[in-house]
Amino acid sequence: MVTGATSGIGKEAAKMLASDGARVIIVGRNQEKCQQTVKEIITETKNKNLEYLLADFQYLGEIRLLAEKFHTKYDKLDVLINNAGVYLKRRETTADGRELSFSVNYLAPFFLTNLLLPALKKSDSARIINVSSLSHLGAKIDFDDIFSEKSNQHPKFAYRRSKLALIMFTYELARQLKNSNITVNAVCPGGVATALWKTNNDLQTKATRLIVPLLKTPQQAAGLLVYLAESPEANNISGKFFALKKHSRFRNYNYKNTISKSSPESYILPDQKKLWQVSKELVGFG
Ligand SMILES: NC(=O)c1ccc[n+]([C@@H]2O[C@H](COP(=O)([O-])OP(=O)(O)OC[C@H]3O[C@@H](n4cnc5c(N)ncnc54)[C@H](OP(=O)(O)O)[C@@H]3O)[C@@H](O)[C@H]2O)c1
Repeated sequence: MVTGATSGIGKEAAKMLASDGARVIIVGRNQEKCQQTVKEIITETKNKNLEYLLADFQYLGEIRLLAEKFHTKYDKLDVLINNAGVYLKRRETTADGRELSFSVNYLAPFFLTNLLLPALKKSDSARIINVSSLSHLGAKIDFDDIFSEKSNQHPKFAYRRSKLALIMFTYELARQLKNSNITVNAVCPGGVATALWKTNNDLQTKATRLIVPLLKTPQQAAGLLVYLAESPEANNISGKFFALKKHSRFRNYNYKNTISKSSPESYILPDQKKLWQVSKELVGFG
């Protein structure tokens, strides 16, 4: 299952997995885009084992329904790629008033992963890949202000915190799943030429937009996700952060040896545990 597979890195990852013969479920929020993506991937790869499930990740109810549909239709899940993400131009909130990027980029994959764990446990060897970002460096989770109401409201800060939260979740989950059949890792795909750069308007994004055509392609970035999903080498690696630190499309990328250090904040154990507890309460899980 690949979330955010209607565009950019997720779409390329779904295509590559389909090319390799996998049965792929793409997750998107827009039915037309999902149908179009499925059609495109089937045409290009000749693999007809492709389906889609719908959910807008700002709505917890839709995520719950997505998981229920999955459990009704399928028995087990081998790979979950939590890739969907937004980088907003201005602060936006969900229907229940929560900051949107933290909700979509972090709370949604936290919830979805927990709901799908029973199916992942049925796989012989399951892998979870969380698409984070090096932009988490320097971010801190403020447990008194999870949805950035009191702090600087520019969405780039909420984006960075969402990506930090995703890494902390990865480390905590890896510990909980130690000695199980499931591995979980986080990745940063590095700078990639995708629609993500079209939205935000901070200075760094504006500058990056000028060089987007030089950034690595979605295929090059998706290669890391597929490496982690398929490679026998990655079979026993869990609780790590992989980053493609170079950004140019004119390089060859070797996905092996891309294990990196995440920020010092991401390794603070009591914070990881506290975040897990807070997240559980926020999504009403368990
Ligand atoms: N591009 C980069 O340089 C870069 C760098 C570091 C990390 N990342 C991360 O890589 C991941 C993929 O991003 P991308 O660069 O491929 O961008 P993208 O082309 O904009 O793809 C984002 C995907 O997320 C989906 N999505 C957005 N909001 C959603 C919601 N509310 N519910 C469900 N799905 C939603 C989008 O659906 P629609 O097609 O309907 O919009 C799209 O499929 C993100 O997590 C991003 O933070 C990207």
